[in-house]
Amino acid sequence: MHGSGSDNDGDRAWVFGYGSLIYKVDFPVLERSAATLNGWKRRFWQASHDHRGTPDAPGRVVTLVPEPGAACRGMAYRVDRDVFDHLDHREKNGYGRHRVRLALDTGYEIDSLLYVAESDNPAWLGPAPVAAMADQIAGARGPSGRNADYLLHLADALRDLDDHDPHVFELEEAVRRVLA
Ligand code: BEZ
Repeated sequence: MHGSGSDNDGDRAWVFGYGSLIYKVDFPVLERSAATLNGWKRRFWQASHDHRGTPDAPGRVVTLVPEPGAACRGMAYRVDRDVFDHLDHREKNGYGRHRVRLALDTGYEIDSLLYVAESDNPAWLGPAPVAAMADQIAGARGPSGRNADYLLHLADALRDLDDHDPHVFELEEAVRRVLA
């Protein structure tokens, strides 16, 4: 299946995880590989009212923003199509599916789906000073737990992937300072 035109058939497809999907895999996986997505960067620019915050005190979670020359590391999973019903529900707060081309660490290039929250969605927050984002993340908690834990888990998972994401690591340091 690798290296064929689409790498997705009627029943199965690849999904790329660049946030909590890297470390929280609560669905059956047929195949997996670390992967690189070129032309996009990861940003804590999306509000979470339902998982890592509340409507009154939303948290901040990641989305992807197009950026020529950028690269985003993550995990690719080949899954049965019905897994997308689960993920559509899990990630419902402003995210839509996109199709991208992905470079797997195994050396193959594949078509993949991923979830992106764009700037026109109602939960979009956009950029803010690092200190303000850190305060918001350190103070937010929702049904899925502390917003800070989401960030700290993601930073650990990126280190495991040998990814140096300055945006995430700068926020991690700032949040650790607020929590200390
Ligand atoms: C992810 O981990 O890839 C992901 C991030 C935000 C929404 C959905 C999925």
